[in-house]
Amino acid sequence: MKIFFLDQSGKPGGAELCLIDIAKPYGDRALVGLFADGAFKELLQQNHIPVEVLATQAIQVHKEGTLVQGLKSVGQLAPLITKVIKKAREYDLIYANTQKALVVGALASFFSHRPLVYHLHDILSKEHFSQTNLRIAINLANRCASLVIANSQASKTAFIQAGGRSDIVEVVYNGFNPKIYQTDESDINQLQQKLGLQGKFVVGHFSRLAPWKGQHILIDALAKCPPEVTVMLVGDALFGEQDYVKQLHQQVADLGLENRVQFLGFRSDIPQLMAACDLVAHTSTSPEPFGRVIVEAMLCGKPIVAAKAGGVMELVEHGLNGFLVTPGEPQELAQVIITCLQETEITATIANNARTTASGRFDIATINQQIAQLLSDKF
Ligand code: UDP
Ligand code: GLC
Repeated sequence: MKIFFLDQSGKPGGAELCLIDIAKPYGDRALVGLFADGAFKELLQQNHIPVEVLATQAIQVHKEGTLVQGLKSVGQLAPLITKVIKKAREYDLIYANTQKALVVGALASFFSHRPLVYHLHDILSKEHFSQTNLRIAINLANRCASLVIANSQASKTAFIQAGGRSDIVEVVYNGFNPKIYQTDESDINQLQQKLGLQGKFVVGHFSRLAPWKGQHILIDALAKCPPEVTVMLVGDALFGEQDYVKQLHQQVADLGLENRVQFLGFRSDIPQLMAACDLVAHTSTSPEPFGRVIVEAMLCGKPIVAAKAGGVMELVEHGLNGFLVTPGEPQELAQVIITCLQETEITATIANNARTTASGRFDIATINQQIAQLLSDKF
């Protein structure tokens, strides 16, 4: 099967990293069409996945931007749509990986008579999107997509609650290669030395910097923890959240935590950095659709504390393979950090359990088989 993947982003967010793993097995039978240039294109190339930047001019792509804005820019970009329609004729299937890709993919599907699959990486609720945005996404998916792949039960439920057709939606979790998440002890020591982490209890946060990812909650929690606890913030503002970045730096300064918080920016050595942490924190204040970082922490054998909402509840069972806290509650988060600092043995047992179960449950080979099966059943 020849698949034409579409993604609006030039930057590697979670949906894009997931797409790399999905497209890879198709080799030259796949093409990833992007609406913007950037680091994501390079990652696809490194993975030997055919990629083309299709937009002739930059589209304003904000992850949380409205679809109306998206449609306007798409309207200005007739050349992009024409290109996508033409390309689509060379493939058996159009696979839209983001919402603006769904808009363009729906049009291309109509004109090229190719079926459309929509990989839903979002919780389509009012908490995340405007009413208009929701309506457009649901209507296009209902009318134009033959299959909607939701990244969690939570995303599937929200899709149906927003009016999405239950007969076209299936859940497939993100897949991972567990081997990538094994790091040598010597590499860990080196990294700890380089970052000045020795003798500290390091809480890592691995996410793009965005208000709903809740880095501010972790900083507030840190202020309530003993002085040996430090925080490493890994990730950058990918979709224009510069004000939030300023706000985070200000918060750190106001709380006098400059020596206990490191901002590392966007990094590609996530497994190594996670391995150098004592605990990984996930702090989203709105329901997380899936949460790749949670599974990644598990695969690294690191304890995870995560905000109890959305897809996270399908990944973490409190006290069994991680810890759950109420979203937006720094006091509760601080309490879990302190428990992990003090109860090292039980915390290590929980992290080991998580590693074992996550390696089986989210294995990329199994996940790719599930997708291949869904595609061959439908098309
Ligand atoms: N990530 C990365 N470098 C960074 C920060 C994050 O490669 O500096 C990766 C992280 O390992 C994860 C993805 O970005 O695989 C984020 O996915 P997630 O599902 O956690 O959240 P999203 O940003 O997609 O909402
Ligand atoms: C999106 C979601 C995130 C999910 C990722 C991969 O970016 O925000 O929760 O893990 O897609 O499906």
